[in-house]
Amino acid sequence: MTQKKIKLELKGITKFFGKKAVIDHLDLKVYEGELFAILGPSGTGKSTLLKIIVGIEEPDSGSVFLDGKDITNLPPNKRNIAMVFQSFALYPNMDVYRNIAFPLKIARFNKADIDKKVRSAAKLLGISEVLSSSVSKISGGQKQRVALARALVRDPSMFLLDEPFSNLDARVRFTAREELKRLQKKLNSTFIYVTHDQRETSNITSRVGVLNDGKFQQIDSFDNLYNFPQNKWVGDFIGNFPMSFIKKSDSISWGFRPEWASIHRGNLSAKLVTNELAGDINYWLCETKEGSMIVLRGNKPREVGSKISFKLNKYNIYKNGVFLKQGR
Ligand SMILES: Nc1ncnc2c1ncn2[C@@H]1O[C@H](COP(=O)(O)OP(=O)(O)O)[C@@H](O)[C@H]1O
Ligand SMILES: [Mg+2]
Repeated sequence: MTQKKIKLELKGITKFFGKKAVIDHLDLKVYEGELFAILGPSGTGKSTLLKIIVGIEEPDSGSVFLDGKDITNLPPNKRNIAMVFQSFALYPNMDVYRNIAFPLKIARFNKADIDKKVRSAAKLLGISEVLSSSVSKISGGQKQRVALARALVRDPSMFLLDEPFSNLDARVRFTAREELKRLQKKLNSTFIYVTHDQRETSNITSRVGVLNDGKFQQIDSFDNLYNFPQNKWVGDFIGNFPMSFIKKSDSISWGFRPEWASIHRGNLSAKLVTNELAGDINYWLCETKEGSMIVLRGNKPREVGSKISFKLNKYNIYKNGVFLKQGR
């Protein structure tokens, strides 16, 4: 197996705001050419972490390595890492062309080079026809592409995207995700993007880092986060519903997803509390006799209060705060 090259490495990053460590001894390796997602609820320090990588926030301790070089003390303009902000941060009084050209002008490129780079980035992102439009007149999706084009012309070492889809219409989000995936492949560059929405990670990345409490709780494929969460927090955060638990003894429970249970002639039972329809699937929120809430699923609503028998075809054995292995 060929060794993957590490593009970015964070070692023991800690960042305090007041007395609170928003980022707490965090480690991370991102590989060359990877599209890596950082997923976590609002306020968990995702933007702060990107700012530390790009150099506009300083960590209180820890180091940032790019291509094996310690860049912790380099100013942002010496790092050559592009960051696309959640707001896109375009200049409203400039047209699309001048927005994309701006960083090249600052870097004193000559006019001909600027023109070549702007047009080629615009072509790559499919915004050639709006180059002379005012940025206030273009759609959200086009604004995002302008912001990406502006990052791209600098030929950065890697890209950081903060909540890149959150300012887009729900309608265009899906295609925007596919486009980003394609762009990243085409550029063969390293991308990190941040989101609080797990749906934006399920079909896009090979690895997702789940951030909470200042640390990555788990770094894994989305499938593994869902099927083999390392701890209860991840099991609860990932998926449409928190993971369900059935107590087996004082220290051991079985954790499961709705589709891991079948509801015919089972040896377990629970009382239905609420029916919840999601598309054409019916979820039953039920209470076990120990009083914990679990989620089962079936093909139609049932009467509240009725007893539902089920059995588990698959479960994760949970002991003292961590999942041990999957049982059957
Ligand atoms: N410059 C700052 N000064 C003080 N507190 C901050 C600053 N930036 C962020 N915070 C706080 O740090 C926490 C993490 O913020 P942020 O990185 O923006 O989270 P996220 O991007 O995950 O929503 C929040 O509680 C936020 O209020
Ligand atoms: Mg943020």
